Amino acid sequence: MKVLVTGGAGFIGSHTVVDLIENGITPIIVDDFRNSEKFVLKQLEKLCATKIVSYNIDCCNYEQMEEVFSSEKPDGVIHFAADKSVNESVENPLKYYQNNIGSLVTLLRLIEKHPVKSFVFSSSCTVYGNPDSVPVTELSPIKKAFSPYGFSKQVCEQCLIDFQNSNPNNSIILLRYFNPIGAHPSSLIGELPIGVPNNLIPFYNSNSCWCKGKGRCFWRFLQY
Ligand SMILES: NC(=O)c1ccc[n+]([C@@H]2O[C@H](COP(=O)([O-])OP(=O)(O)OC[C@H]3O[C@@H](n4cnc5c(N)ncnc54)[C@H](O)[C@@H]3O)[C@@H](O)[C@H]2O)c1
Repeated sequence: MKVLVTGGAGFIGSHTVVDLIENGITPIIVDDFRNSEKFVLKQLEKLCATKIVSYNIDCCNYEQMEEVFSSEKPDGVIHFAADKSVNESVENPLKYYQNNIGSLVTLLRLIEKHPVKSFVFSSSCTVYGNPDSVPVTELSPIKKAFSPYGFSKQVCEQCLIDFQNSNPNNSIILLRYFNPIGAHPSSLIGELPIGVPNNLIPFYNSNSCWCKGKGRCFWRFLQY
């Protein structure tokens, strides 16, 4: 079985790639490295002791993604590729609408055309907005998003609900994370933000870590 992993060189995507391989599933990575390093691919191959097929492509690019779907014929897609900074999305909302919504719509157009039945979408806890009570559950109401990033995830979720209604044979899962943290026990992969970290733990540690605040480490202490 083959699964296309968009954003597979990123933090959550790279760990998912390892998990897929450990479970006998072949990952195909699509990542344009806008927020990850190419050497992550080498680290993944070292960690999994296998060659991993990858494409350096913007997954908003329909024609290039069409080629990937035609040649790789994936059975499923896990879509991680997105911009994810709440602050940046307030300063530059169009970047978030274009990439986060654009990449999803591109993938759904291709899924409709190719025999792909399973789709997992990397959503976010930000879809809950400012909840009335915590902890939220899957049944908690979706409130007004407090950032363009959160709103882009809400729009994506609605796109997927509408898509599934019109394509009932497709199975779709929405994952809503709450600040995932950690690194692989091997320390070969982990969270490696480019520029100023935006996620909670890398940001919190950015001044005390051996990387001297440049955000270039894997936060390997988190394993202990
Ligand atoms: N890390 C978190 O705390 C968190 C929380 C909630 C939701 N999420 C969501 O999970 C997903 C993955 O998060 P992450 O922490 O691994 O982020 P990440 O930035 O480490 O990984 C995303 C990867 O996608 C790639 N990418 C982005 N846009 C692309 C495009 N158009 N084409 C090709 N590649 C592209 C980036 O280069 C990067 O490698 C995102 O959708 C994010 O919104 C993350």
